[in-house]
Amino acid sequence: MHSHNRASIGHQIKYALRRPQRIPRHVRRLSRNAWLRLSTRDHIDYYRAVMKSDVSRSSERAVGSKSHGRWLALGQMQFDYLERHGLRPEHRMLEIGCGNLRAGRLFIDYLDTGNYYGIDISPDVLMAAQGTLVDHGLRDKLPHLMPVKDLRFAALPDEMFDVVHAHSVFSHSPLHVIEECFQHIGRIMKPDGWFDFTFDRTEGKEHQILREDFYYRTETLLALADKHGLRGTFMDDWERLRHRQSKIRVTHPGAAPVTGRAAAGRPKDEAGRPKDEAGRPKDERREQRPEASQMAQDLR
Ligand SMILES: C[S@@+](CC[C@H](N)C(=O)[O-])C[C@H]1O[C@@H](n2cnc3c(N)ncnc32)[C@H](O)[C@@H]1O
Repeated sequence: MHSHNRASIGHQIKYALRRPQRIPRHVRRLSRNAWLRLSTRDHIDYYRAVMKSDVSRSSERAVGSKSHGRWLALGQMQFDYLERHGLRPEHRMLEIGCGNLRAGRLFIDYLDTGNYYGIDISPDVLMAAQGTLVDHGLRDKLPHLMPVKDLRFAALPDEMFDVVHAHSVFSHSPLHVIEECFQHIGRIMKPDGWFDFTFDRTEGKEHQILREDFYYRTETLLALADKHGLRGTFMDDWERLRHRQSKIRVTHPGAAPVTGRAAAGRPKDEAGRPKDEAGRPKDERREQRPEASQMAQDLR
């Protein structure tokens, strides 16, 4: 969670003084993004171009992981949390912004054959996702991977999904994209289905950086869900994990209340201290968000 405005000049100057070695990389990113913004029609078109450029260097970095080890750990964190909070093999699941299947490979492996659907605005990252399927021996699980141009889900039938998941997608989305999703997601969720998403939370002024990273107040997103007839619940126990985004679960108002195994059930280290999702003792965690573009963020 962030209480200061990372887009402010003051923050950027302080950041640059603390990490001068990052200035050239930031300037390169700034110029690239400025050019991409000029040459694209709208946010989706722009972000697709950002992904194309990032994936051409490394698909793991493009989804925000600085190393293969972090890529594996971030996927595992998402999987473990969702499995503790209700995911079952017989569920049909949609992952919005599935990227190169950082977590998707674990969902695909766990779910019954044919029950995983991954959508993304970036054809380039979906090509990389196919490589992940092959590398992890998941072809026989017959996952569905689909490029999309918006979040209206027009090609998907009513009440299709038990679980919808979007990790580190709304952290890159302007509010109108999130609203489009809320407008349509209820139609494709089963009556007792749920939709978990992460977002970059601020308790200060809402802001964005380079049109890549967007910071929202929790109440903004809860009110937006409510406006579209959905109930949002802030997932407190996600806050205890080694990740700097926050998580909200959205359900139909009549659905059963949100439940899940809480921290009490978590594994302990030799000294009896609870471990985090990546298996580290909680008090050894560093304040770290493992994904994103530099200086302006460090961070997806
Ligand atoms: C930071 S990556 C995270 C990928 C994946 N969720 C994970 O955790 O590894 C964000 C992904 O969301 C996709 N994305 C961004 N905006 C989207 C949108 N409006 N609809 C669908 N996908 C989107 C991007 O192309 C990218 O693959």
